[in-house]
Amino acid sequence: MNFHLKVWRQKASNAPGKLESYEAKNIPAEASFLEMLDIVNDDLVAKGQEPIAFDHDCREGICGMCSAVINGVPHGKDRGVGTTCQLYMRKFQDGETITIEPFRAGSFPIIRDLSTNRAAFDRIIQAGGFISERSGSAPEANSVPIPKTIADEAMDAAACIGCGACVAACPNSSAMLFVSAKVNHLNLLPQGKPEKHRRVLGMVKQMDAEGFGNCSNYYECEAVCPAHVPASFITSMNREYTVAAARKSAGATG
Ligand code: FES
Repeated sequence: MNFHLKVWRQKASNAPGKLESYEAKNIPAEASFLEMLDIVNDDLVAKGQEPIAFDHDCREGICGMCSAVINGVPHGKDRGVGTTCQLYMRKFQDGETITIEPFRAGSFPIIRDLSTNRAAFDRIIQAGGFISERSGSAPEANSVPIPKTIADEAMDAAACIGCGACVAACPNSSAMLFVSAKVNHLNLLPQGKPEKHRRVLGMVKQMDAEGFGNCSNYYECEAVCPAHVPASFITSMNREYTVAAARKSAGATG
């Protein structure tokens, strides 16, 4: 298969960027999108040109590193089905023009080309996305009974891989789907409850400090999320935040 690519090239976060054209030739239909970029990069290197920088790690939809906006959609045309690394070239038409851009958000500065700095998500996790339990050997699985409905909901929240597609898709660059997934994952479970008020206040405060926008119900985040995290978690987080803020203003600690 052959494709005409328009790829965002930018040498550094403060450098100007622009779309540049490349031909991707003789791409196997079974190649993944990232493997297609590998082939294009091999060709660029052979010609003595700079390869296209892009983020990747696991290449199997787990780590959340891959992050391209493909023809205007974060993670591309399978919209909400998988990550960029799980997209295959057979999904495209032979001869198609494909535009590839980085995730665009003020809180995700471009490092180079398609590679963005998403450390803002790490700082939000550091603000409360953990439990302060002593680690050690794994407890007996049935020692803390958790109702099936709660366990299922917590698992749905834990599915978030922190890729940032929700931010890239949102007109407000809101990170509320990501933050609400992380808050709900822990706040729903008995192990996370002792710190639940501190957690939601800390993580929302850090989210605001990082410059992410607020949710105004576009639902674009939910539509592109490769882990199918539902936007209803945002409602749950807002409820948890309201309770925690009221407790705090009434003088409660913890
Ligand atoms: S490279 Fe890990 S999710 Fe795509």
